[in-house]
Amino acid sequence: MRYIRTNEISAEMDGKEVKIGGWLQESRNLGGISFGIIRDRYGTVQVTVRKKESPDLAKIIGEANRESVLIVTGRVSKSDKTPRGFEIIPNSIVIDSSAQSPLPLGVVDRVSAELDTRLNNRFIDLRKENVERIFEVKSEMLFATRSYLRSIGFIEVQTPKIAAVGAEGGATLFKLDYFGKTAYLAQSPQLYKQNLMGAGFDKVFEIAPAFRAEASDTVRHLAEFTSLDVEMSFIESSEDVMDVAQGITFESMKHLAEKCKPLLEKCGIEIELPKLPFRRISYSEAIELANSEGAKIRSGEDLGTEGEKALGTAVKSNWNEELYFITDFPTELKKATFYAMRKDDNPELTTYFDLDFRGQEIVSGGQREHRLDKLLAQMKENNLDPERFGFYIEAFKYGMPPHGGFGYGVERFVQKLLDLTNIREAILYPRDRLRLMP
Ligand code: 4AD
Ligand code: MG
Repeated sequence: MRYIRTNEISAEMDGKEVKIGGWLQESRNLGGISFGIIRDRYGTVQVTVRKKESPDLAKIIGEANRESVLIVTGRVSKSDKTPRGFEIIPNSIVIDSSAQSPLPLGVVDRVSAELDTRLNNRFIDLRKENVERIFEVKSEMLFATRSYLRSIGFIEVQTPKIAAVGAEGGATLFKLDYFGKTAYLAQSPQLYKQNLMGAGFDKVFEIAPAFRAEASDTVRHLAEFTSLDVEMSFIESSEDVMDVAQGITFESMKHLAEKCKPLLEKCGIEIELPKLPFRRISYSEAIELANSEGAKIRSGEDLGTEGEKALGTAVKSNWNEELYFITDFPTELKKATFYAMRKDDNPELTTYFDLDFRGQEIVSGGQREHRLDKLLAQMKENNLDPERFGFYIEAFKYGMPPHGGFGYGVERFVQKLLDLTNIREAILYPRDRLRLMP
């Protein structure tokens, strides 16, 4: 007999024989009856045993440890005493895999454990409905993103994660031994996605891990995160790129709001679709707005985490908006981003932007410098040796179109959308300075 999932059973199936597999969430003995609550990814069902009729089965249910995997076959029986309107009257119960006791972490405990304890026992933590559904939301977001990008002509690519050079500065590079040579884990597919523009793949995206040796412990940094990268050619300006970042965000939220109602109900959140187009705030305006909320940022200084938060508060209170672009980043602040195009009519400013969601950066991008002489000059300012960037620089010598793109932090988006305190909750097995297991 084939297994059936708990959500596929209903009171209308009264009398039908079914086979279910799941975890024993709890069991109880009430005088003449014993019952167990069996849980799978979709929910729970109650298995009820009358001791007189089936003393052996009552014994199994009564003795099985919580969270053991049970396989139950039995008859669906209508009942007005159970939340779902039916129960399963078993004719067989097998403890297929017994759970040890005590559990390292409770699944249905009311008190929530420390994040560290939860992460140390992540496989049990993930059994919790409110934790599991974070990953359903993430999966739906990526599904909507792929559909949207494909619908506007993008192809999905895969680029190497072991690389000879970094693109986002030396401080956050993970170094490794590559057959006796030094290699690095990719901080971003930046150099490769630009290389593909030279190859004529005019619209590409990649959804893959990116690695940053972030030494500081914050609620918004991971050492390994999911980067959704986009690159596109023959753009007029960074506005074309911003449209795509906005499109991904809007289409993901729309998909969740319209196609995933039961999931959002389970998450206890409502999604209000953002107004289009997202507001554009220049970097200098952003500082003024942040300062109006008590930040003390001087002109030309980095907004920083606190500045971003204050800006989020200001945008919310002025316009009741939560998604907004910060544009016209000063060249001085983006110097290390050697591939960023500066404005031809004002080289003090770049074409670079961030997209912020509720006071936190979720996307960075802009137009790239595709003119070889200017690119080489910007590398020189950063003391980067173009020779080391061989393949990257070569592509600019043989026909490179105007192009731009961005990196979109998938966990950052999920964190903000679901209002999670810590980004570690938005990734199955977080990596940070202290954590390499599980
Ligand atoms: O702002 P970042 O560093 O930009 C780049 O990687 C560029 N190559 C993008 C481009 O195409 N020009 O990273 C992009 C996004 C950030 O906005 C953030 O959402 C996410 O990636 N991100 C991180 N998320 C979690 N943990 C970290 N340590 C992250 N670092 C960046
Ligand atoms: Mg950034």
